[in-house]
Amino acid sequence: HKHLIDITEYSEEDIKLILETAKAFSEVNERAIKKVPTLKGKTIVNMFNEPSTRTRSSFELAEKRLSADSLNFGGSSTSTVKGESLVDTVETLNAYKIDCIVVRDKHAGAPYIVTQNSPASVICAGDGKHNHPTQALLDLYTIWEHKGDFHGLKVAVVGDIAHSRVCGSLIPALKIMGCETYAVAPGTLLPPAPEVLGCDHVTSDLDSVLPELDVVYMLRVQQERLEGAPFPTIREYHKLFGLTKDREKLMKPDAIICHPGPINRGVEFDSYMADHPQRSVILEQVYAGICVRMAILYLLLGGADNGLAS
Ligand code: CP
Repeated sequence: HKHLIDITEYSEEDIKLILETAKAFSEVNERAIKKVPTLKGKTIVNMFNEPSTRTRSSFELAEKRLSADSLNFGGSSTSTVKGESLVDTVETLNAYKIDCIVVRDKHAGAPYIVTQNSPASVICAGDGKHNHPTQALLDLYTIWEHKGDFHGLKVAVVGDIAHSRVCGSLIPALKIMGCETYAVAPGTLLPPAPEVLGCDHVTSDLDSVLPELDVVYMLRVQQERLEGAPFPTIREYHKLFGLTKDREKLMKPDAIICHPGPINRGVEFDSYMADHPQRSVILEQVYAGICVRMAILYLLLGGADNGLAS
């Protein structure tokens, strides 16, 4: 592969290679001197046209720890505010002979457009409500660390699935790895045709499925993407879909709680569950982000005999 845009272009073997490579890079992140010369001489542009904390900071750190030269670029500080198009912006970056562009954009499909207008490798870092493949890979890494094997694992995504680019990549990725998947949401927060998600189960009754689940993946209600008043209201949502101390009684003793961040405390879960020392793996997901992004950059840019480059 040259790009990472669509996780469905990756096989189970490709994904296992990324996870195993990420595991090897986690050793670098534990050292006193957290740096290897692997991508010395490569130039990577982080083009973030939408806000980000985790994805942007972990890509920047991953690039630094691999000794790449990186350029942080995008949003309202660029000439796009003067009307310059995405294609003209990319043509300008191409003139610097760059090797890779990491793209976050509010428009679904923007990373694909970049692939059509640049010789560089392109990595999708989240595009609109569409895809977020590096998030899916760091989620798989975290689940793998806790559960060891994916086959038959019961994983639910809970909440605002309609607006979730995380689901756009995570649900297919879980299916590729052999998990049994559940979509749990009020009808108003499901996509118009939920079957397109490819989930094995779609339900609005969290309590009925909670006792079966190995992984409960909570999503943020994306109030910035909701048009008009949300239904259910936030208070109703928390009552029906919020993971609370009371609901924990329904969970398997070893079930874990994931969330892509940023979290809305008091909405998708209470602080007791968000910070649960045994169950919540949210900060482990953040750590996995740097290991997995190092692995992806290495495998896409590191050389021809690495198994992923073609
Ligand atoms: N999970 C995630 O993509 O977070 P950021 O928007 O902060 O990068």
